[in-house]
Amino acid sequence: MAQGTTKQIIDIVERCPTDALTYEKIDSSYSGSEISTKPPKVEKVDFSIMRNGPILAQGSFVVNLPDGSEQEVKSITSFCRCGMSKSQPFCDGTHNKEGFFPDDSQY
Ligand code: FES
Repeated sequence: MAQGTTKQIIDIVERCPTDALTYEKIDSSYSGSEISTKPPKVEKVDFSIMRNGPILAQGSFVVNLPDGSEQEVKSITSFCRCGMSKSQPFCDGTHNKEGFFPDDSQY
């Protein structure tokens, strides 16, 4: 965001529905004028949507999990697209056993 006020930037980051945007206060006594965004922990990631299967992500990146923990990925991982994995958000292969038939005709 160019030329936004600190408050505008914080408001946008806090409304991010996926929590993909973050910010870090430089000074804990923040008065509304000094912040910086965290440097992204992503280099280059390629995503492949597998027909009738997961989303493969290949690269070096960090997955921020809902419990606040992080999982670093340095090669390839698969994200569940069917919603049936017991290892959410990762694919555990359940889609093969249970059957998963998304409408992939649009790709
Ligand atoms: S896509 Fe593999 S378990 Fe959901």
